[in-house]
Amino acid sequence: MIYLDYNATTPVAPEVVAAMADYWTEKFYNPSSPYPEADAVCTALETARLDLSTLLEAEPDTLVFTSGGTESNNWLLRSVTGARRQNRPRVIASAIEHPAVAQTLEALKDDGAEVVIVPVDERGLVRLDVLEEVLDERTALVSVMLANNEIGTLQPVTEIARLAHAAGAWVHTDAAQAIGKVPVHVRDLDVDFLTVVGHKFYGPKGIGALYIRRGQSLRPLLAGGGQERGRRGGTENVPAIVGLGAAARLAVAWLGSEGPARQARLRDQFEAVLRRQIPDCRVFGQDAPRVPNTSAFSLPGWTGRALLAACPTIRAATGSACHSEDETGSPTLRAMGVQEAVVRGLVRVSLGRETTPEAIGQAAAALVQAAESGKAFR
Ligand SMILES: Cc1ncc(COP(=O)(O)O)c(C=O)c1O
Repeated sequence: MIYLDYNATTPVAPEVVAAMADYWTEKFYNPSSPYPEADAVCTALETARLDLSTLLEAEPDTLVFTSGGTESNNWLLRSVTGARRQNRPRVIASAIEHPAVAQTLEALKDDGAEVVIVPVDERGLVRLDVLEEVLDERTALVSVMLANNEIGTLQPVTEIARLAHAAGAWVHTDAAQAIGKVPVHVRDLDVDFLTVVGHKFYGPKGIGALYIRRGQSLRPLLAGGGQERGRRGGTENVPAIVGLGAAARLAVAWLGSEGPARQARLRDQFEAVLRRQIPDCRVFGQDAPRVPNTSAFSLPGWTGRALLAACPTIRAATGSACHSEDETGSPTLRAMGVQEAVVRGLVRVSLGRETTPEAIGQAAAALVQAAESGKAFR
């Protein structure tokens, strides 16, 4: 089995498992309790927050732990549209957002929010010219993901923030697919809000964070016992938060190593084999800045699902994991204006830190073999 679906989720790193272990057992205390054993747990939470803040170059008190990307995106969108609705009813998002943003905006439309979707170009990048046209003094927020989950393109978020701030709007980026793959620093991006998802960078599932720029305040999505300085109610998921901190430390080390460059080379070699051996293979997003681990391609005549079924050793995706049950094809490719016949052909291969040249070679060979054998039947 060759696992090439790291954008769906990563394994939890052994170092992360080790860091979490004690917090299930002898360090089980509620961090809000008034005795020294609980204080030590509280300190562990703050250490994790510090480790995450180092990765993101953010002040620790700007990070609020949540249950993951879906919660962070829901919280931010629901809170901002509620608070600024009166004089700024408009929310702008890109056409390639994850459902945790896109579906939340759909729901907010029913509540009266004015949602404007900005298209992407044929490379999979947000159309800044259109963004400029629709940004006005009635815009509360611009939300554009940093790295696309399906094809890995990196959006020009710093430029988006410049344009949005000039119009007095706030900026959010869902950085779920970028963190741990490329440097993600809130100051450079100049965003007001940023979504963090632990299980995309070797942390546990069900844990994430929302960065909230200093000076901004959001109405809590989950009211409760005043945890997270009153910003998110509910007893903290201590083992997962400790794991998120450990994952952040590992990500800092990975980003400072040769790893990302090596990974990009492997991905490029993989695509070179496909293009050489399967002349009508199409690779998406390669003309844009991309995260180093993602390759999205299609072979004419094949649906993504049929191609992966013909390569039973490969574990990859036909788009994002969340929509793999339906056969409607890739929303990202559709937004890029790719022909409908090709939209259902997307296969996404995403590499991890531990992916070897041998695994990539075997995967490419399996795909080439499937393509060649398939031709006989077409
Ligand atoms: C871009 C993006 N945002 C948000 C999420 C949602 O994360 P979670 O399912 O952990 O809440 C994902 C996960 O697939 C994602 O890729």
